[in-house]
Amino acid sequence: MSTIKMLTVAGARPQFVKVAVVSRYLRQNPGAHRIEEVLVHTGQHYDEMMSDVFFKELEIQPPRYSLDVGSGSPGQQLAKMMERLEGVIKEENPDVTLVYGDTNSTIAAALVSTHHNIPVVHVEAGERIYRRRDVPEEINRILTDHIASLNLTSTRRAGEYLQREGMADRRVRFVGDTMYELFVWARDNIDRLSNVTPASFGVEPGHYHIATIHRAENTKTQETLLQILNALDRADEPVVLPIHPRIANLIKKWDYAPTQNLKLIEPLGYLDFIRMLLDCSRVITDSGGVTRESFFARKPCIVPMDNSWWTEIAESGWAICVGTDPNRITNALNAFTPKNEYPENLFGDGHSAMHIVDEVTNFVEYHQKHVHWHKHGSYVDLPRSEETDFTYANYRKLITTLKDSGYTFAHFSDSKELLAKGTPYVLMRHDIDLDLDKAAAMARVEAELGIVSTYFFMVRNDFYNIFSKDGTTAINEVLKLGHRIGLHFDCAAYPDNFSTEEYAEACARESNMLADWFGQPVEIVSYHRPNEKVLSGDLNLSAPLPHTYEPHFTKEIAYCSDSMGKWRYGSPIDRDAFAEKKPLHILVHPIWWHEQPIAGYPALLRLVDGKAKQLEHDLAANCVVFRVGDRAEMKDS
Ligand code: UD1
Ligand code: UDP
Repeated sequence: MSTIKMLTVAGARPQFVKVAVVSRYLRQNPGAHRIEEVLVHTGQHYDEMMSDVFFKELEIQPPRYSLDVGSGSPGQQLAKMMERLEGVIKEENPDVTLVYGDTNSTIAAALVSTHHNIPVVHVEAGERIYRRRDVPEEINRILTDHIASLNLTSTRRAGEYLQREGMADRRVRFVGDTMYELFVWARDNIDRLSNVTPASFGVEPGHYHIATIHRAENTKTQETLLQILNALDRADEPVVLPIHPRIANLIKKWDYAPTQNLKLIEPLGYLDFIRMLLDCSRVITDSGGVTRESFFARKPCIVPMDNSWWTEIAESGWAICVGTDPNRITNALNAFTPKNEYPENLFGDGHSAMHIVDEVTNFVEYHQKHVHWHKHGSYVDLPRSEETDFTYANYRKLITTLKDSGYTFAHFSDSKELLAKGTPYVLMRHDIDLDLDKAAAMARVEAELGIVSTYFFMVRNDFYNIFSKDGTTAINEVLKLGHRIGLHFDCAAYPDNFSTEEYAEACARESNMLADWFGQPVEIVSYHRPNEKVLSGDLNLSAPLPHTYEPHFTKEIAYCSDSMGKWRYGSPIDRDAFAEKKPLHILVHPIWWHEQPIAGYPALLRLVDGKAKQLEHDLAANCVVFRVGDRAEMKDS
């Protein structure tokens, strides 16, 4: 089997930590995979303690390419990265590009790779904070997720977010968190691996807090950052803060120096940082990585943000988001204690690297040639350009043609009498399986043309509710326009081995409910998802009511149906029965008919979208919890 060339692109501190896990697995298990990793360092982070230290102590292979982009405005940084990455991609022509997280290096690599037809696999995909202002990572991650052919998630919830954004299931796999895997290794070997102890920084185990602050929203103004730093300074016990260069530069400019319990130190290497984390009392951090490491170390974590990505940790009670209010920060630092049991396994089984390698390999083997971008996923579901003539305009034409040819529109109860008379008539039937609004829309079209039909509604239905306010309104409108109602009976809602008598009893119960609720007689039954028994045409199935599978309605009269969005036996006016002016039984499902032509599959997708929107609207109207969440999102985005 041939080698898979995987270009790994990283550039910032949190990415080196994640790269270390996968690179180590590849190196230590040469027989278990066939991936050749080509590592590219963009140079987004470049200080010794932001970059080299991780390569050394985590034994990451030296990058084959160092792009040295350095710092700059987002535009400058991204432009430099993309230009230089383009050269690498042309040179290497990899099978796949692997990117991590949400930094500028992530999105730059994803974008350039995809423009060169190199599929992207995104590790730590799908996390969302649902804020964009001052959170460049949110947009970086969203875009990378949607560019990536395969999204590998650290949490189950990330998969749910992606699903909510319409991502096909097969583009998402849960692999667990690389940082968890690395943490477990570091924790178990820390005495051997780390060179420091709390005493190195003048603090005692269990009697200090560890802090990291660097996020754009917290460093944007002098007021915000100083407010946070002063709150840390006032804590009861020492707070050790290894300073990220972003704030080191600012503190220097402002000539800031703490006066009480805050100890500013140089950034630490990963292993020394973990040592300090393991011995601390509490953690305060706006770092996504450190929030998780704090959780892995079972330390209470205080997040100086309104909300953070790692909602599962906050929900478990092991982290608390306190915003930037100084009193809340200090109080939490002095007292915050998780009340809940520690939840296990939120971040996977600790074998994320193995899962990543397996997923990348499977992806390259099976999917590279067939990547299709579609909401519901499988290849056969690709949006097709299908011709359809199921428009209201064509429906009007059909009805007009029938009328002009001498057909009248009759009720099912009059059919036998009319058949005996030999005059041409149509039994127009609408089985309503999915959508009451479409039924009302078709009823209006028919009323304009002065015809009457029978609308068959379901009492037991997963897609609509005839007793809801909107459902009842829609059906009342159909009735007001002069149409009649029948019962559409779902056979699959009852046991397979139902006897004829049991069917008749259930039909009677459902049709009585329908008739009572709408104050109209129910004349006849049609069957949804009919089984063999129903198709046999047994006259007693719905007794005393007739049903539409009786031989009179299917054999004595020519039966036409638009099922699945197409005329099953040809258009009614192409049928011999029409040429011979014989009666017609026409089944039209309003769901397939529209003002503008739209094929069956996209019409159903539209239904799905509409129902999702309706559900959100109804939830907001019914449940304050949902309304609050909705408002928060509106305010911040
Ligand atoms: C970046 C990521 C952020 C991640 C963080 C991890 C983006 C948009 N942000 O933020 O998601 O959480 O890394 O640490 O990609 N600097 C140095 N030396 C360095 C690196 C940076 O002095 O080695 C200084 C520069 O003044 C630079 C500033 O830090 O302008 C910010 O660096 P940058 O990489 O732009 O963003 P981070 O805040 O590090
Ligand atoms: N980290 C470190 N030294 C420090 C502070 C943090 O090695 O002085 C590590 C930390 O253990 C974690 C990673 O840096 O593994 C997190 O990176 P960062 O906070 O810069 O970024 P984020 O996770 O917020 O994207």
